[in-house]
Amino acid sequence: MRLGASRLSAVARGPALKTYTRGFAHSKTVEHTPVKGNKQDDYFDFTAENYERVATILAKYPANYKQSACIPLLDLAQRQNNNFLPVAAMNKVAEILGANPMRVYEVATFYTMFNRQPVGKYFIQLCGTTPCMACGAGEIKQTITDHLGIKNGETTKDGKFTLLEVECLGACINAPMVQINDDFYEMLTKETTIELLEACAKDQPPPMTKWGSLPMNGQLSCEGPLGKTSLKESWPGIEKFMRKDLEKKVDPASIKEAMHYE
Ligand code: FES
Repeated sequence: MRLGASRLSAVARGPALKTYTRGFAHSKTVEHTPVKGNKQDDYFDFTAENYERVATILAKYPANYKQSACIPLLDLAQRQNNNFLPVAAMNKVAEILGANPMRVYEVATFYTMFNRQPVGKYFIQLCGTTPCMACGAGEIKQTITDHLGIKNGETTKDGKFTLLEVECLGACINAPMVQINDDFYEMLTKETTIELLEACAKDQPPPMTKWGSLPMNGQLSCEGPLGKTSLKESWPGIEKFMRKDLEKKVDPASIKEAMHYE
């Protein structure tokens, strides 16, 4: 079927954003809101430093597959823009990738890691899926809403905190938990949740352990209340199952640096 000229130009431009909707992980449907900073003809460009990162990212892909760099470039744009990915940044990524903007919108609207509306300095994603809910996520949510005076999906007036209930974040073993920006805070209680919020309010969020998350009950990782209960000693011969090429390449302590997150 042939498309008429006006339909073709609409396809080339991408969707009519005013009518574009999607569901957040908590099923709340939101529309694209063309507020200040999020309009189709707003300006966005990467900084010179981030253009170096763009080049590093693109170099990982064959020239004819550079559109595969869409997610890392959107992530970089969002990090540059205070954890908010406006449509102008999506357009810039499309331009760099030589892609139809629609392709980039499709990615940005599919993954909940991309914030298409401004969020607070501390973006709290509260896991509300079954294991966390069974371990007290409801009480943690109530504690956050009471302490900050905001409901799910809202931002505090000072722009410091946004709360969003999301689906499983993959730390079920240490439920209940929240993700604040990039970091996981786990094994939460009402008391440690307040402690965490107050630390963030003072811009002193507790540092992660060397494993990249922080169980708030003093555990090092996910060893449980009895400590390590398996693999207490080395297992002779296990080395042959391990990938030599990855040895010493992943250091949880510096993973953010390696990922250009800091
Ligand atoms: S259910 Fe909460 S992290 Fe998986």
